[in-house]
Amino acid sequence: MIQSYVGGAPTTGAVATYASRNSAVQTDVVAEVALAGPETFLDACRTARAAHREWADTPAPIRGRVIAYIGRLIEANKESLAKVVTREIGKPYAESLGEVQEIVDTCDFFLGEGRRLYGQTVPSEMPDKQLLTFRNPVGVVAVITAGNFPVAVPSWYIVPALLTGNTVVWKPAEYSAACAEAFNEIFQHAGLPAGVLNVVYADGAATFSGLEQALTDGCVDKVGFTGSSAVGAKIGELCGRHLQSPCLELGGKNPMVVAPSAQLDLAVEAALFAGFGTAGQRCTSLGTVIVHESVHEEFLRRFTTATENAVVGDPTQPVLYGPMLDERFAARFEDYLGWIARHHAVSGSTSTGRISRTNPRKGFVGDPDAGLYFHPTIVDGLRRDDDIFLQETFGPMVGVTTYHDLDEAVELANLPGYGLSSAIYTTDPKDVFAFRRGISAGMVSVNNSTSGAEAHLPFGGNGKSGNGSRQSGMWVLDQFTRWQSLNWDYSGRLQKAQMDTAELIPDLEFRLP
Ligand code: UN1
Repeated sequence: MIQSYVGGAPTTGAVATYASRNSAVQTDVVAEVALAGPETFLDACRTARAAHREWADTPAPIRGRVIAYIGRLIEANKESLAKVVTREIGKPYAESLGEVQEIVDTCDFFLGEGRRLYGQTVPSEMPDKQLLTFRNPVGVVAVITAGNFPVAVPSWYIVPALLTGNTVVWKPAEYSAACAEAFNEIFQHAGLPAGVLNVVYADGAATFSGLEQALTDGCVDKVGFTGSSAVGAKIGELCGRHLQSPCLELGGKNPMVVAPSAQLDLAVEAALFAGFGTAGQRCTSLGTVIVHESVHEEFLRRFTTATENAVVGDPTQPVLYGPMLDERFAARFEDYLGWIARHHAVSGSTSTGRISRTNPRKGFVGDPDAGLYFHPTIVDGLRRDDDIFLQETFGPMVGVTTYHDLDEAVELANLPGYGLSSAIYTTDPKDVFAFRRGISAGMVSVNNSTSGAEAHLPFGGNGKSGNGSRQSGMWVLDQFTRWQSLNWDYSGRLQKAQMDTAELIPDLEFRLP
């Protein structure tokens, strides 16, 4: 039984239990999880608060060493951790290895940051006075994450939060609890003092209530949340009441524009990976291909063929994608399929809906009835007011629509109101910069997939995709630290800013003859 982990030890008791199942083999229970109530969340935040001063006072280069050890331990356990990811949420093994690598990359970046964490020395407008800036940790960070990236995305929060001197309470998704347990074990073995990283397993309602209590109690200073736009809005509202601005990484309806000059085969390869990789369950997954009307027919023909020929199935085998993450995602995807209307043309597989022995897919690898598998579905002919065009459809579904000129492509790309990732396939630099300027997305790819961001560029979105916060690289430091300015006068008198300043008198009437 997996228990929450607070103050360096597992907790006891549970308000409920949850069985986390292998999404490729539903009879395989990967972990039994003891779900905690709101009081455990509150207790974990108080524990993190108590551990904070000592951790913040640990010199940053020493904290950087801990991050280095985490990276080394993750590398040494790469295959084992990737196997847990594949077994629990059904991510193809090659992708799971990539996901684990993303933690290593994040550690690589931040281990050196412990020896930087630069502040500035700034000149004063008065003599014998020095101005300086310092980055202070925010305090206690509550991290709530989804299970589609059960170890990489948590590391984007937890690694920089720890490095900058914060203590952490992490609430992972229940359906990826075994991944979270393995992740926590590795982190604890890197030398973190007790109470610095705490993990609470709880359902959404208990987490929300625990978070509300912890914010009221004053023992949470920053919230990081990755999940749906709807829950993100609720968390934003709650944090706003406590005058906090959370780091929100929410949904996406990520567009890919295919211009007339695009190399079509490259665009097709990217659409296949971006749309159907991870069974379309990345926040960066491709939503709609917006293809120029002159190449629409040819693009669709090649994309359909590529999708029909893609190998779907057992995630331990070399497949394009495996099952849905969990039963709830499978059920929700069935609802999205219900949005397909008469004016749409569907292609990409031998059928639609759940793959089974009675609703088979050509070339499927493994036993479809054992897991939560769905046919890849291309929906062509999307209109501006279609739900499939406007809403995120988390799962293996890609929409297609056409455009006439680039202004229209940009307008269509922005219309759903998300703004996470985007891509354009073109060989014309004019298109690239017009698209970059016009698109609302935080991330733009040129001749590459909407998914697959590198771990050291700013990651995040606008609109329904987030509140403008950015993770990763140096940009995330502003989430987990607050600037403090120091104004140090050693003149021996009170020098008043804006008043006691020297003035050199110019002759502004001067003109050349
Ligand atoms: C997510 O789905 O929450 O850019 C994150 C990507 C991955 C991360 C996705 N590196 O697709």
